[in-house]
Amino acid sequence: MKRQAKTVILVAGFILVSTLLWAQNKGAGQIILSGGTTGNVTFKHKLHQDSLGDCNLCHNLFPQTPGIVQKLKDEGKLENKKVMNQCQKCHREKTNAGLKTGPVTCKGCHVK
Ligand code: HEC
Ligand code: HEC
Ligand code: HEC
Repeated sequence: MKRQAKTVILVAGFILVSTLLWAQNKGAGQIILSGGTTGNVTFKHKLHQDSLGDCNLCHNLFPQTPGIVQKLKDEGKLENKKVMNQCQKCHREKTNAGLKTGPVTCKGCHVK
């Protein structure tokens, strides 16, 4: 293939990938999750996206849809506290490894 043609393909590919990344819906920057009688949880979505990178560290349990955690819990398709346990597990592991992370105590996440 001619060198020029290769360059054109490379540039076109780069523009396509950038557009796809830019167009990806990242959702709200901050989300309030219902925490039952223990109080709601204010979750900094963007902070986690920026510091973790991998969406599936959370979205392995639920799709990228507003209000889906409560909806799946109400429908009995997602165990209560399953998401919470995943939040806590990561925070605990990072705390033990001496890394910057989020809270592991109830009141660190739940506010009445
Ligand atoms: C640390 C956990 C976590 C990570 C990582 C994460 N999300 Fe989310 N995301 C959530 C939670 C929690 C919700 C709220 C679901 C609900 O409202 O029930 C959510 C909701 C969403 C929604 C729905 C819209 C909204 O505003 O509620 C979209 C879209 C989304 N995420 C996209 C992404 C993308 C794209 C990434 C990766 C770049 C990502 N998320 C990474 C936890 C996470
Ligand atoms: C890292 C943040 C975090 C910590 C720490 C945390 N929680 Fe949660 N909790 C959540 C989130 C997010 C939810 C909603 C999603 C779910 O049910 O998995 C929740 C849900 C709950 C619920 C409602 C479950 C239901 O029946 O729907 C209760 C009750 C609860 N937490 C109690 C506690 C108690 C008690 C502690 C301390 C021992 C605690 N949480 C620590 C984030 C946290
Ligand atoms: C895979 C690891 C991981 C998961 C899963 C995770 N977190 Fe975190 N969390 C972090 C890290 C890392 C930080 C520190 C980010 C920073 O300050 O740069 C953090 C910070 C926080 C903070 C403190 C934010 C502040 O005010 O500075 C809260 C609250 C929190 N997380 C709640 C949650 C909740 C609720 C969930 C589940 C829906 C969750 N986290 C899931 C890694 C995780």
